[in-house]
Amino acid sequence: MHCTALLVAGLVSLGACAAVETNNAIDARDDGTNSCKKQNCMDDSQAEKVADNFAHLVSAYTKADAEAVMAPDFLDYSDSVTALINSGCPNGPVPYGAPTFASRDQFEAGQSSQPNITFTILSVWHNCDTVILRWRGPLPNPFPNAISPQQAVTGLIVIETSFQGFNCPQPFLIKTVFSEFNSAAWLYDLSVFVPNCTADGFGYPPAGVRAKM
Ligand SMILES: *[C@@H]1O[C@H](CO)[C@@H](O)[C@H](O)[C@H]1NC(C)=O
Ligand SMILES: *[C@@H]1O[C@H](CO)[C@@H](O)[C@H](O)[C@H]1NC(C)=O
Repeated sequence: MHCTALLVAGLVSLGACAAVETNNAIDARDDGTNSCKKQNCMDDSQAEKVADNFAHLVSAYTKADAEAVMAPDFLDYSDSVTALINSGCPNGPVPYGAPTFASRDQFEAGQSSQPNITFTILSVWHNCDTVILRWRGPLPNPFPNAISPQQAVTGLIVIETSFQGFNCPQPFLIKTVFSEFNSAAWLYDLSVFVPNCTADGFGYPPAGVRAKM
């Protein structure tokens, strides 16, 4: 009942879409199990929506969608994507460890100039404001010079969101992305990396370390 009273207060406090409720400490939503949820916490379907929004940006990119689902101060960290941009080379053009896309504009420029890439979302997890997804692709590899059959690429993406308000078309905008995946397999698929397939499967750890294991 404590929750119910606050739920009403919470609903009343929902103002215009741009007005962000900031009081994280107030438990305002009753999850039906006598434990209250934090006011600004996303639920499962909102987390799925964020995951699907990101998947769409990569598999069916449009600028209108990008502007609708991404925060203006978007940042994307992915050394795996940087490895693809750099064709696996150590000296750029994009430095490792730095944002791969330092703004929404940069992401839009990159995404609009490459083929759409489809993949399957394998799992989605979330807390109040962050969505984690595990994916596998490509389905199929759209790139020229692609190896056939291609290797599957599996990755993990952590998406930090920016809460807009539950009455907004997108209550949680994609704000900061941390995305890593099997870029070695992807570079193989692109015919950039040519593996030594007579290797014994023990490329790492090195033999000296392995002997002590
Ligand atoms: C990606 O998909 C979107 C939505 O279907 C489409 O508008 C866009 O032209 C596609 N991009 C490319 C490079 O094919
Ligand atoms: C490929 O790996 C095998 C096994 O480690 C090695 O003996 C061989 O020299 C490698 N070939 C090349 C071209 O590196």
